[in-house]
Amino acid sequence: MDSSRLSIAVVGSGYVGLVAAACFAEIGHQVSCVDNDEQKVATLRAGGVPIHEEYLADLLNRHRGQSIEFTSNLGQAAREAQLIFIAVGTPQGETGSADLSYVDAVASEIARSIDDYKLIVEKSTVPVYTNEWIRRVVGRNGVVEELFDVASNPEFLREGTAVVDFLHPDRIVVGADSEKAMALLRRVYEPLTSGEYYESAGAIPGMRNRNSPAPMLEASTKAAELIKHASNAFLAMKISFINVVANVCEAVGADVEQVAQGMGQDSRIGPRFLNAGIGYGGSCFPKDVAAFRYVAERMGVDFGLLGEVEKINAEQRIRFFQKVRSALWTFRGKRIAALGLAFKGGTDDIRESPALEIIRQLLHEGCKVAAYDPAAMERAAAIFPEGENMQYVRDPYEAAQGADALLILTDWEEFQRLDMTRLRSALRYPIIVDGRNLFDPARMTELGFTYMSVGRPGVVHPRETLANPNIP
Ligand code: UGA
Repeated sequence: MDSSRLSIAVVGSGYVGLVAAACFAEIGHQVSCVDNDEQKVATLRAGGVPIHEEYLADLLNRHRGQSIEFTSNLGQAAREAQLIFIAVGTPQGETGSADLSYVDAVASEIARSIDDYKLIVEKSTVPVYTNEWIRRVVGRNGVVEELFDVASNPEFLREGTAVVDFLHPDRIVVGADSEKAMALLRRVYEPLTSGEYYESAGAIPGMRNRNSPAPMLEASTKAAELIKHASNAFLAMKISFINVVANVCEAVGADVEQVAQGMGQDSRIGPRFLNAGIGYGGSCFPKDVAAFRYVAERMGVDFGLLGEVEKINAEQRIRFFQKVRSALWTFRGKRIAALGLAFKGGTDDIRESPALEIIRQLLHEGCKVAAYDPAAMERAAAIFPEGENMQYVRDPYEAAQGADALLILTDWEEFQRLDMTRLRSALRYPIIVDGRNLFDPARMTELGFTYMSVGRPGVVHPRETLANPNIP
């Protein structure tokens, strides 16, 4: 066997686990991907790919049966691996804290199975001190200190661009408290940090190359755990910040996109994650902001700032809803076209999606909703089943047919290319309330729409007058 090749077990085949497993195989390691869901393992073995992610199926096809295998036998996979990455879920518990029971169960089982040195690596997003707990659990199960280390290697991939994010990262963060553990982690990522991978035949393209390989930050285990929580919390704060700026823009008649552009040109601030809208959602930001705040409080640190970030995020949806109300006056019996269900464009994931919150409210107020999303309709139908008031349609124009207003709720690229003339003739009234700022307000006036977006001056069709949103 090639001496640079390591044998790696990845426990958990969710978003992070499956992508990490496929990418470890892609950079030359021998990988065993473990999941206790037998059905999922059978699907993966048979060539199925449970998530919608560019390049993932290609990588799995490339390596399945050779350098990647799927199993539900954690004990055996742990025994055979040099490194065991834990990538199981850490859902939000009742108090806002992360529920670490899956991590605990996996750590115990690893401990019961191993008989030579293993490096156990936290890949899931976990609060600071989790490494200490894993260490304690493994020790309690009778494993002596010399036989294991616990390290942290948080993952920063985004849904929709997961494979490229993994292989072409801004940075790789590894946290370890022993040189032995650190040396192993360096070996795992050597193909990316040396740039060798980017020259290999069939390498997945991205921003990194031989001359600009992936940088690696080496830290203590605790610092690495904190980097992940602090990064997600900071990005969520950036979004909430620009959303409040957008509200100020609305109050004074300025355009938030100009403000964001001007802020973003300051290299200390940077232009990304300054898109105002209906707030952040997804399986990470809401959970991680709550968990980080909780952990800080447990340590006696008041991180009230994060409470504000959450509050602003929740209020942003309410504000948007009020805008819709100001365009429609009353809701009962009105037909609304809703474009977008996923928490962001490019994914079928609807977890904590602001779009669904708004639809829930519309249905509650007695509207009839015709919804369209390029990927997330099946998942959304499990929450809001198709019925008299909730319809899922084949395209945006069918959604618009006879609607009193059209709402943009997810930033899908394909919505930017909509045929506006066709849309306008399908709508009963030419009203668009855009929660993702996809269109240019001046162009929308030319096209004859009443158009409202977030943090930009609204435009009103000559035949329309809008209710003052401040009048209840
Ligand atoms: C996020 C982070 O970006 C990843 O780095 C991290 O690895 C991941 O969480 C995680 O912890 O697993 P993701 O949840 O896939 O990734 O989605 P983002 O692209 O970050 O978007 C999150 C939400 O913020 C979406 O609802 C999006 O619409 C919203 N958003 C994003 C804005 O409202 N404005 C922006 O400018 C950017």
